[in-house]
Amino acid sequence: MTGNLIYGLIKKKYKPSNSQLIVSLNHKNVILRKKPLVIVGSHRKESDTLTFTEEVMKGIPHKLINLKDRKISAYCYSGKYSEDDDFEKIASLMAVHNPIVFATPVYWYTMSGLMKDYFDRITDLLTINKTGGRRLRGKTMFVISVGSDKKCPDGFEMPFRNTATYLGMRFGGIAYQSTKRKNIKDFEIIRRRLIRHTYI
Ligand SMILES: Cc1cc2nc3c(=O)[nH]c(=O)nc-3n(C[C@H](O)[C@H](O)[C@H](O)COP(=O)(O)O)c2cc1C
Repeated sequence: MTGNLIYGLIKKKYKPSNSQLIVSLNHKNVILRKKPLVIVGSHRKESDTLTFTEEVMKGIPHKLINLKDRKISAYCYSGKYSEDDDFEKIASLMAVHNPIVFATPVYWYTMSGLMKDYFDRITDLLTINKTGGRRLRGKTMFVISVGSDKKCPDGFEMPFRNTATYLGMRFGGIAYQSTKRKNIKDFEIIRRRLIRHTYI
């Protein structure tokens, strides 16, 4: 797993980009090539989604944004938003991180309203901030989700998968957790893929 880490660059005054992370491994400073950005969209702060996300991401260095703490205005055709709107700030983080992980509860068979507002705002990256949209190309999108039903609802994945395709991103898959039954298989598959994307 660590075979492709870049050693020694720090000594040569290498400046890591925002998406790279310096960690100490066996007393050597190493740079991880990629650092995931996790965007959580539950409507409660201490949420099941956050708890499951922390389990999936355990040991994987990442930056986490909780949309509950941010202001994401509903999409507006005029492209004019209030000054305290946080979408652009989060979009600029998406531009420098990879992979992008969307974590949402299942609300009425689909993503939460908070997450849907965020997805609607991605439209701004195709219109008023096209550079932001272009910078998503080639990145990988993962989804983490929690619901009370035993299985992830049919069609839940589609808006994520199609959005990834539209934006020129790869779709890495979904880890779904039922509050009734622990789904170890999904969990392990996504964790392994995330680790591979982060370190290799
Ligand atoms: C508004 C609302 C709608 C929900 N709809 C569904 C649903 O369609 N399918 C499902 O499995 N669970 C549904 N649930 C249950 C939540 O997905 C479940 O309680 C989840 O653990 C909540 O996660 P959170 O704490 O991150 O919000 C719904 C819950 C709420 C509040």
